[in-house]
Amino acid sequence: MSTASKAKDLRTELAELAAQARSAHELMSEMVKLLQERMLKYNWVGFYMLENSPGQPPMLVLGAFQGAMTPHTRIPLHQGICGAAASTGKTVVVDDVSKDPRYLACSLDTKSEIVVPIFVRGKLAGELDIDSHFPAAFKEEDRELVEYCANLVGQRLPAIPDGK
Ligand code: SME
Repeated sequence: MSTASKAKDLRTELAELAAQARSAHELMSEMVKLLQERMLKYNWVGFYMLENSPGQPPMLVLGAFQGAMTPHTRIPLHQGICGAAASTGKTVVVDDVSKDPRYLACSLDTKSEIVVPIFVRGKLAGELDIDSHFPAAFKEEDRELVEYCANLVGQRLPAIPDGK
């Protein structure tokens, strides 16, 4: 099966997962499992959720994930590939993490990474981060798949109150 048709198949399953999940939390937990199990180059799959506490700088906080524990459980918006995706509101794909000075190392095995922001009604709510042990693992169809996932989660998360 080609990568494109595998991804299409997986989208159907992901949409079913989103329809059946009883909460956004359950959707995210099941989604990271499904992505890591089915996409063989997706070696670490996890969510970082935006925390906006009064008087504190905004922070990306580790949520549901599959893969080895990471030392980066809280990432400020000016750090890492994660911070770059959150602060620009754009998907970041890094083909060779060793060449990107922004990269915060999670595992020595990681060679490439994709981070996709999640929006709820236009406001940043978090992001979906995937690491691969393979260089340049994230092609256009991967970007589309991960953005599809981020969109499913964005539709399920509660609205962010005004002022945040
Ligand atoms: N590599 C990320 C940090 C998170 S770990 O990959 C899980 C970054 O550079 O922001």
